[in-house]
This record gives sequence, C-alpha cells and structure tokens, in this order.
Amino acid sequence: LRRIPLLATLSEQQLDALAAGSARRSFPRGRTIVAEGEPSQSLYILLSGRAKVQRSDTEGKEVILAVLGSGDWFGEMSMIDDAPRSASVITLEPCEFMAIEKASFRKLLAESPEVSMAVMRQLVGRLREADRKIETLALLDVYGRVARVLLDFSEDVNGERIVRNRLPRQEIAKMIGASREMVSRVMKGLETEGFVVPLPEGRMLLREKLGSYTH
Ligand code: CMP
Repeated sequence: LRRIPLLATLSEQQLDALAAGSARRSFPRGRTIVAEGEPSQSLYILLSGRAKVQRSDTEGKEVILAVLGSGDWFGEMSMIDDAPRSASVITLEPCEFMAIEKASFRKLLAESPEVSMAVMRQLVGRLREADRKIETLALLDVYGRVARVLLDFSEDVNGERIVRNRLPRQEIAKMIGASREMVSRVMKGLETEGFVVPLPEGRMLLREKLGSYTH
C-alpha cells in the first residue's frame, strides 16, 4: 500500500487498518468497474492499465469524460456525498486495482489531512479540466476539438509530440460530442494538410502548427 502515492504519508498503523478494509483486484479489458446511477461501496486506485470514465443517456449515446491511468483513483465522489455513482468506469486494457471500502476511506479522510488534501487537489484538478472542456465545446469547432484531444493525449518524445497509445476515432468522437464519421473526415483533413503524421501501430506524430486550431 505504501507504494501508492495517495497513501505514501500514512503511518504503519494506518496502513495496517487500511489493509483490513481493502483488496487487490484484477479485471480484463472492457469490464465495467463502477456503473453510473448505482449505489457505491468502494473507492478504487488504479495500479496498472487504463480505464475510461463515461456517461450515457437513455438512448445509449455515450460521452467519455476522462481516461485514467496508473496511480489515478476514482469512485471518491459518491463516497463523499453518498449520491449514486456519477459515471461509469470501464477498463480499456487489463487493469489492476486496489479497492478500499467506504468506511475505511471515510476514516482515512478524517484521520489524515494529507490524504484529504490529495483528494481535494484531485477534485480541484478535475474541475479545472471540466472548465477547460466546457470552453472547448462552447468555443472550438470540430477541428479545434479534435486537435485539443490529440494534444492532450500526446507526450514529448525527444522534442516531438507523439500520441503513443491507440486512440480510436470512435473514442475521440465520444470525447467531443461529434460523430465517428465527422472525426474521420477531420483526421483525414489534418493528415492531408500535414498537421498529423500517422506512424506504425496507430501512433501519431503531431506537428507544432496543430496548436493553431486550439485558439
Ligand atoms: P463516483 O461518482 O463515485 O463514481 C464514478 C466516478 O467517476 C466518480 O466517482 C469519479 O471518481 C469519476 N469521475 C466522474 N467525473 C469525472 C471526470 N469529469 N473526470 C474524471 N473522473 C471523473
């Protein structure tokens, strides 16, 4: 447990107490870990793999709110306010989690200012991200939205911006409220104009001028 950054500041005693109220779990790809609208029992810390946070309407249309990776946690919102799960979290790859029961998490928040602060910092970060997304959806056209998603998912590799993980068009579409066909058209346009260069294994090189679409 101590190797999990969120829990690194806890005392031996606190970790022992937490171990009693937590369990390590593994899930294959495509598994729903928490389901929107359901009552909550646990908080999850992602130890390895990636998972998506999504909401869907009554017709089954989906929007992806975030993609989580190793070290991220989820399921804290309904632990804090006792409301039903605000979204579903679904594995994109085989994932390993630490699941912490509600009572243990509540006790931890009460006993550890460091953990409380870390949870608050994460919630504030998410609000900032949500504000940015509102701006993106309200002010940018589909080219700008696609460009922003590509840049958000890219990383610096020897001075170049590379999207390393596969980013299917359908998933991009669900992040920006556009159809898959529209995203395909925009991606083709970006490739033709040389803003995006496709690389082997679904990776992409992003040219610097792509940023001009996002403001
Ligand atoms: P909870 O509501 O308990 O269950 C669903 C979880 O998804 C929620 O807690 C958060 O941990 C996570 N979640 C909800 N909205 C977002 C978001 N916009 N970005 C990242 N994670 C989110």
